[in-house]
Amino acid sequence: VLDGLTAQPADPLLALIGLFRDDPRPGKIDMGVGVYRDAGGKTPVMAAVKAAEAFLLKDQQTKSYLGPEGDARFAELLTPIAFGEIDRTRLCGVQTPGGTGALRLGAELLARGRAGTRVLVGTPTWPNHVPLMEAAGLQIVPFKHFDVATQTLRFEETLAAIKAATPGDVILLHGCCHNPTGADYTVEQWNILAPLIAERGLLPFVDLAYQGLGNGLDADALGLRAVVAHNPQVLVAYSCDKNFGLYRERVGALFVVSDTAAVIQSNLLALARANWSMPPDHGAAIVRTILDSPELTASWRAELDAMRLRILSVREGAAALDPALATLTQQTGMFSMLPLSPEQIRTLREVHAVYMAGSGRINVAGLTPDAIPAFAAAVAAVR
Ligand code: LMR
Repeated sequence: VLDGLTAQPADPLLALIGLFRDDPRPGKIDMGVGVYRDAGGKTPVMAAVKAAEAFLLKDQQTKSYLGPEGDARFAELLTPIAFGEIDRTRLCGVQTPGGTGALRLGAELLARGRAGTRVLVGTPTWPNHVPLMEAAGLQIVPFKHFDVATQTLRFEETLAAIKAATPGDVILLHGCCHNPTGADYTVEQWNILAPLIAERGLLPFVDLAYQGLGNGLDADALGLRAVVAHNPQVLVAYSCDKNFGLYRERVGALFVVSDTAAVIQSNLLALARANWSMPPDHGAAIVRTILDSPELTASWRAELDAMRLRILSVREGAAALDPALATLTQQTGMFSMLPLSPEQIRTLREVHAVYMAGSGRINVAGLTPDAIPAFAAAVAAVR
């Protein structure tokens, strides 16, 4: 059986981790994979996470199974952060291995609901969205979300794609901090999109992986909340990997809003069982411990806000150095996508030791204050 397999290329984004690590140049700059770094270039474990881990080490009594839904209290505590006020009888949710696990579980739920379901996806998008959805048996219908050359969000094209869609189609939306462009809808635009999606009979699937790293915890959920206010059914893939700095612990949740929440929950449990049986506990236990403690929650919120403000200051610092980087201040979260050719991106890496995704996506959180001028100069040099 295995002899029929052909070699697959390494994931180009994840390959940057190894390339950067093996580069001996001292001034190298890593703006590749989406990981937050502080002003010293480190990705520290958040103080609230350390405290929660210490608590778990001391107080955890068992590591026995929790079941396919994972840590139910974790999902319950996350609910008001993501949704604000919500009728919990219309909500179900399970813990998943990271945001990717949530997206995959959601995709499989959609495929189970109706084989070959079409998903409208704005481009460019996170490179894993398309293979993940296709692997679950869904069909991708692309539309243009953002024009890289002119650095403009194509809202009219989003509206046109929704109007041209067939009732029952799904639309994948980035809740905040659009990955890879940083180009989010304004609140006004969400308030136009959300009722239009409902009117057209589409099913919104919101990917919320960076809550708190754009404009603040509540502000970053306003799009999702507008979608939930207008639509009878909504899927939400939530990730705690970035906003709790838990990357390798893989902490996420899939939520579904629907009048048929109990039936959907039973399907989520069956799908989870067939995929990973039960999700790994540690990361979700950390988040649960933090959110169950007012002190740890306050510490987490303050540290998250400091991270967000640092990202803003990097955007402002780079934009101030070169008018060609001015659009960085119009975008939010960790990412922006520069209009650079593959050749320019390779020169940046090989000559200037500046690492970014092959698409021109930069992780602005990868810049220390000291590195901002070197980055701006390198981009100017290849332009
Ligand atoms: C990213 O986009 O860099 C992150 O979400 C990491 C990943 O899994 O691709």
